[in-house]
Amino acid sequence: MRKFFLVASLIGIFQLGCQGAESGHQPIVSEVPLEEPITFVNDILPLVQKRCSLCHNSGSGLPVWEDYQTLFDNREFVRFRVFENRSMPRGNATNMTEEERAFMAQWIDEGARFE
Ligand code: HEC
Repeated sequence: MRKFFLVASLIGIFQLGCQGAESGHQPIVSEVPLEEPITFVNDILPLVQKRCSLCHNSGSGLPVWEDYQTLFDNREFVRFRVFENRSMPRGNATNMTEEERAFMAQWIDEGARFE
């Protein structure tokens, strides 16, 4: 009986040791909520309408950012001018915020999804 108890304890310690060794590989489960990806349809189109379309519209001769393909094709340049050198929106005429600039850059960094 006493011997059985000793063996059982040893197995217990062994298992604890294994858990400790593996703790670095344990998947993180449900601690971080899965976030919806940023998409053109849900997030970027409304932002562009609010902050860009005053000037970038079909009558202006400028690229129309409400058109996904135009925006997608120019995304690195858009990222540069909105988030890096901040020359757009011109004179910040439409009061684009820092959060919106970073958000647009993040959308581009994550692949500029349509939906
Ligand atoms: C107040 C007017 C105005 C607003 C608002 C504005 N732009 Fe512009 N944008 C211009 C003008 C004028 C040009 C052309 C001259 C230049 O390149 O600076 C231009 C050019 C650009 C270009 C270069 C296009 C090219 O092919 O050369 C990019 C990229 C751009 N804008 C992005 C944006 C984005 C993105 C927004 C909204 C977040 C925005 N702009 C808002 C006036 C504006």
